[in-house]
Amino acid sequence: ERADLKATLLEVNKLAAKYFYAQLKSESGKTAHEYLTDRQLSEETITAFGLGYSNKYSNDLHKYLRAKGYSDEIIVKAGLANMDEKNGIYDKFWNRVMFPIMDVNNRVIGFGGRVMGDGKPKYLNSPETPVFDKSRNLYGLNRARTSRKSYFLICEGYMDVISLHQAGFTNAVASLGTSLTAGHAALLKRYVGEVYLTYDSDEAGTKAALRAVPILKDAGVNARVIRMDPYKDPDEFIKNLGAAAFEERIGKARNGFMFSLEMLECSYDMTSPEGKTEFLREAARRLTGFEEEIERNNYIEAVAKAYHVGYEELHKLVVKTAVQSG
Ligand code: GTP
Ligand code: MN
Ligand code: MN
Ligand code: MN
Ligand code: MN
Repeated sequence: ERADLKATLLEVNKLAAKYFYAQLKSESGKTAHEYLTDRQLSEETITAFGLGYSNKYSNDLHKYLRAKGYSDEIIVKAGLANMDEKNGIYDKFWNRVMFPIMDVNNRVIGFGGRVMGDGKPKYLNSPETPVFDKSRNLYGLNRARTSRKSYFLICEGYMDVISLHQAGFTNAVASLGTSLTAGHAALLKRYVGEVYLTYDSDEAGTKAALRAVPILKDAGVNARVIRMDPYKDPDEFIKNLGAAAFEERIGKARNGFMFSLEMLECSYDMTSPEGKTEFLREAARRLTGFEEEIERNNYIEAVAKAYHVGYEELHKLVVKTAVQSG
């Protein structure tokens, strides 16, 4: 029963993806197609990611799916239409550029839809359904899993993933408009032991990176952080500076823990002895999080060096802090 429902939802999603794709390539999708070309996506990229367009008229898709024999109930359950007493059934996505979201087995499990221009919401995403669990899927993983790199690049958005792949970084994935979860970390761990976080340069992106580092560490995934400044995100970075400059940033990626400490510096007056002491106490508290002695000592060494304090003193402080916190 349940398995049947899932299979049906996957069928409906696949049909919808094909429908959106055909619309993009048709006359009605001209503006949408131009939007993507203006964002410098090649025809090859558009096809590889199966990008599409949802029509201006908000009944097209569910009419099409009804004609294929699917019930209103299934179409609503797939998250492709909404239903209420006042309006009846109506398509969820209309007049948007469509990004089909695939699972690792290339099955379409949901969609993101971007408004062309400045409307709100900028992105509309499928709700969670029996086949779409946002905390256990990553956009682009179906393609990134076959890249030969020993690490993934994790970014925020659909366009970041697509731009990166187009520029040759075929190991890029994105979490689906949610922050990185333990489920994502466990999924990543199946493929790689290391990830490079390439989040947006704004405060939200920095905070998201800081939250992701310990979640990844708990799953046994080493995290590094790449900064995209002076640009907003990987998509804009690549467009302005190109692939070689991005590769250079990969080379300069910061260790996740050291990056967290750098960000923590803002909360202390590092120029005063009290401020710096308080900062080092907090650093010591965080260093107690490394359970393996060799790893912990290596980090103590790195912190001692970065903040110009003696290894022995810092080591003592970490041991004392660990004892105190039991
Ligand atoms: P572009 O403007 O197309 O380059 O998008 P972006 O990916 O740079 O946008 P942003 O950094 O604001 O958002 C990153 C990701 O968060 C998007 O790819 C979406 O998955 C999600 N997101 C952004 N805006 C919205 C929104 O308005 N609603 C929802 N539900 N998700 C959003
Ligand atoms: Mn946003
Ligand atoms: Mn952002
Ligand atoms: Mn962005
Ligand atoms: Mn962007």
